[in-house]
Amino acid sequence: MNIAVVGLGYWGPNLVRNFSKIPGVQVKYGCDLSKKNLLKVKKDFPSIICTENFSEVLSDSSVEAIAIATPMSTHFSLVRQALLAGKHVLVEKPMTQTSTEARELISIAKQKKKVLMVGFTFVYSETVRKIKKLIEKNYFGQLYYYDSTRINLGLIQKDSNVIWDLAPHDLSILGYLIQEKPISLQAFGSSFIGKKEVEVAHLFLKYRNKMTAHINISWLSPVKIRTILIGGSKKMIVYNDVEPSEKLRVYDKNVSLPFDKISPFSPAYRSGDILIPHIDQKEALLSELQHFIECIKMNKTPLTNGTTGLDVIELLEATDLSLVSKSEIILS
Ligand SMILES: NC(=O)c1ccc[n+]([C@@H]2O[C@H](COP(=O)([O-])OP(=O)(O)OC[C@H]3O[C@@H](n4cnc5c(N)ncnc54)[C@H](O)[C@@H]3O)[C@@H](O)[C@H]2O)c1
Repeated sequence: MNIAVVGLGYWGPNLVRNFSKIPGVQVKYGCDLSKKNLLKVKKDFPSIICTENFSEVLSDSSVEAIAIATPMSTHFSLVRQALLAGKHVLVEKPMTQTSTEARELISIAKQKKKVLMVGFTFVYSETVRKIKKLIEKNYFGQLYYYDSTRINLGLIQKDSNVIWDLAPHDLSILGYLIQEKPISLQAFGSSFIGKKEVEVAHLFLKYRNKMTAHINISWLSPVKIRTILIGGSKKMIVYNDVEPSEKLRVYDKNVSLPFDKISPFSPAYRSGDILIPHIDQKEALLSELQHFIECIKMNKTPLTNGTTGLDVIELLEATDLSLVSKSEIILS
């Protein structure tokens, strides 16, 4: 299967490298507006045809699928053209700049009977999959909270704020783990450098059953932290994504209030073992791309499809509304 990768800046070369590992898949084209970035990829993958001309890729009938890793503001136009040219498309997060655009792409993909997948890489990570299995087995009991810190120095994007850049990771993980939409959302954020787009932000989401999610995202942190805590009535976890191995720790801890101790109030704290589950070291992006190829071959709907992409865009739009109105947005 011939593939083209469009956008070869920071993320695109990772797509080229991982597609090249899949038997039967060939990255035929690398496309970018920057000659410098094209040359870098050509050096590592000499057989790839490098072009600045997207139409050249679209008009090659031997190209079945296109992966798009360009800045967000270009996604809608490039994906639309690719689908209309009869190509299957994998587009990086966030799918589009508006939910109207996302709906249009979903509709074109349906008409053209083409796979439209969104690159929510964390959903394909072995750690997130392990957490999902534990939730399905009711291992944590009632879920109390999801608390994520996703901060670093940069990379400040030209066409989005920090929420649109980094929150799609947590919003897609939450959508996958919880399988339920939040009932309300509130965003807080500030801009210090560009004075326009928010660079430091906090999101608060509420779910039915009282579960809450807090997402702390920043481009202005001196250190890179990628930590998710999930607390439940039976067990709690810490997922530290910057750990090279042992990313996940499961704490057999909880707090309860014995029936007869309500008055006077005296909660009981239980502290058991800490478990570090075995998790395969497979790169999430490789699993994501294998899934994309499988969906094309088997005519299947991807796990992270256009509708999943739209759900995230709707939440991102709600964060914009919340920032402007300085209020909690009721979602359902
Ligand atoms: N899934 C993930 O974990 C993950 C990680 C990083 C980035 N991303 C996403 O990947 C996308 C790209 O991010 P990046 O950090 O690589 O950006 P980048 O700015 O480093 O690279 C973008 C590249 O696209 C090229 N480009 C711009 N417009 C183009 C066009 N019309 N045609 C062809 N090439 C064009 C630029 O020249 C540049 O080389 C974004 O949507 C980002 O959110 C996803």
